[in-house]
Amino acid sequence: MKTAVVGLGAIGKIHADILAAKGMNLCAVCDTDKSKLADYSAEKYVDYITMLDEVRPQVVHICTPHYLHADMIIAALERNINVLCEKPLCIKSEDIDRILAAEKRSGAMLGVCHQNRYNEVNVFARDYLRGKKVISGCGSVAWSRDAAYYASGDWRGKWATEGGGVLINQALHTLDLMQMLAGFPDYVAADISNLSLSGVIEVEDTASAVFSGNSDFTFFATNASSYNFPVEITIRTESETVKIFSDAVYVNGEKKHFAEDTRYYGKCCYGTGHEKLFDDFYGCVKSGGKFGIDGEEAAKVVKMILACYKSGGKKVGI
Ligand SMILES: NC(=O)c1ccc[n+]([C@@H]2O[C@H](COP(=O)([O-])OP(=O)(O)OC[C@H]3O[C@@H](n4cnc5c(N)ncnc54)[C@H](O)[C@@H]3O)[C@@H](O)[C@H]2O)c1
Repeated sequence: MKTAVVGLGAIGKIHADILAAKGMNLCAVCDTDKSKLADYSAEKYVDYITMLDEVRPQVVHICTPHYLHADMIIAALERNINVLCEKPLCIKSEDIDRILAAEKRSGAMLGVCHQNRYNEVNVFARDYLRGKKVISGCGSVAWSRDAAYYASGDWRGKWATEGGGVLINQALHTLDLMQMLAGFPDYVAADISNLSLSGVIEVEDTASAVFSGNSDFTFFATNASSYNFPVEITIRTESETVKIFSDAVYVNGEKKHFAEDTRYYGKCCYGTGHEKLFDDFYGCVKSGGKFGIDGEEAAKVVKMILACYKSGGKKVGI
């Protein structure tokens, strides 16, 4: 299968490494920064559309800054080229509609990298909670992202190009897991603030949110911690408290599952899920099966985050 990667920064390199490790045919790479292409023996491009039209890969991996995802996804789908895009799906609500319409028209498949859904602990928790009534939940992400991190890419820290801060970038995975485990909520009241990088970034480094309606849970996320703490999710059913850590799941205090897979590609905050997600996606491309994290599924957490940004502390619909 002919594959291509666009955007060879921090995560694009990981995508290319996984494709190489799996013996997949990486036939083209594209980055506007030519220096990022030097390490690859594949065909090199600086223009995405030219690459799609000349190479016609069967799968293109989109690993570019957030604001580029929507147009790049649509350009590939219009050419009936399968797309595996990094999160977030997009950063504007009108782009959700454009992407879903393009996906419907296309003969190709769209998948989005919500790889934490494939982490052992989250697979266990999802299966454990299936059929049980969830009555509440809370999730928290306390990570550290300093001025040097935001200076590492000119798209970071800006509304127009990153589309937000800790919520749409670092905490998106955990919020996606919350809705996967507790159910998709109808409303949110949220507050966002910039507590540690005022004057450095435009976007929020800290957010708190109360989700309600069809499901009820609270969520806290910050990039202003001085330490990268493990993510924590707690789900309450009528009779059980299910605590999900990165390496184990506890039910009413009893350890129910211990994750053995700790093989990371890249930073440990990326988790262990990319490779499993690739296997699932490529399996669906080959068999014509439906990949679970398509446009509609990936749009759920983007809708929740955009509602948080709109909320201004008041309860709004999602
Ligand atoms: N799933 C995860 O855990 C995870 C982890 C890290 C990053 N990401 C996501 O991956 C994406 C990229 O993040 P990153 O940290 O690798 O960013 P980065 O800044 O390190 O890399 C982005 C790359 O895209 C290139 N680029 C910019 N405009 C381009 C264009 N028009 N055509 C081709 N290339 C272009 C840049 O030159 C750069 O090399 C983001 O959406 C981010 O949220 C996901």
